[in-house]
Amino acid sequence: MPTDSDIRLTRRRLLQLGLALPLPMVLAACDDGAPTGAPNPAAAPTTAAPTATTAAAATGTLAPTPACDDGDDPTPAQTEGPYFTPDSPRRASLLEAGMGGQRLVVAGTVLTTDCRPVQRALLDFWQADDAGEYDNQGYRLRGHQFSDADGAWRLETVLPGIYTGRTRHIHVKVQAPDGPVLTTQLYFPGEPGNDRDGIFQPELVLTDVRDSGGVRQGSFTFVLEG
Ligand SMILES: [Fe+2]
Repeated sequence: MPTDSDIRLTRRRLLQLGLALPLPMVLAACDDGAPTGAPNPAAAPTTAAPTATTAAAATGTLAPTPACDDGDDPTPAQTEGPYFTPDSPRRASLLEAGMGGQRLVVAGTVLTTDCRPVQRALLDFWQADDAGEYDNQGYRLRGHQFSDADGAWRLETVLPGIYTGRTRHIHVKVQAPDGPVLTTQLYFPGEPGNDRDGIFQPELVLTDVRDSGGVRQGSFTFVLEG
């Protein structure tokens, strides 16, 4: 008799194997109870800037299935920390002239726990600069944006620096329209400080992290309680 844990692992494995399956089988593997024809970020077109999804569509391959696991695991909340400033400017790029640090692009999707994309979700990011300093007087490296019709979002910034007691991270608040605010943090794989940071959670590590043309890139799927 399989345990609940076994079932979840099996579902995740199916989703991972989705890369090798025809699209209808992938959609069937996402047992979310959504009506047939419900929007699926792996298949739906997007009007946003080119993403891995649209690139995959252009090449006839299937993009990695979003990290939707049938409602088992909404993205965990984490402490806001002491450096949040409300009313950040609306902007998807936090880059400014003269800003130091390696460029970083993080892109992803906001989904409900039953695998539906959340459009117009608010994503409010804030982070330290490359020296590990927060701007607590202004809005440097702070900004909010909204997910598009496919639940997709994309952030341009710099790799955050490290400050005492913390591993490398980006803060974010995510809120579906009229939904509760999820406050959490995103992390980077392979950081020596991850294991020493008591706040760090592996579920919040960016995926698909790579360097391309000097730009660090990564992905993350937020899963909100439906
Ligand atoms: Fe922080």
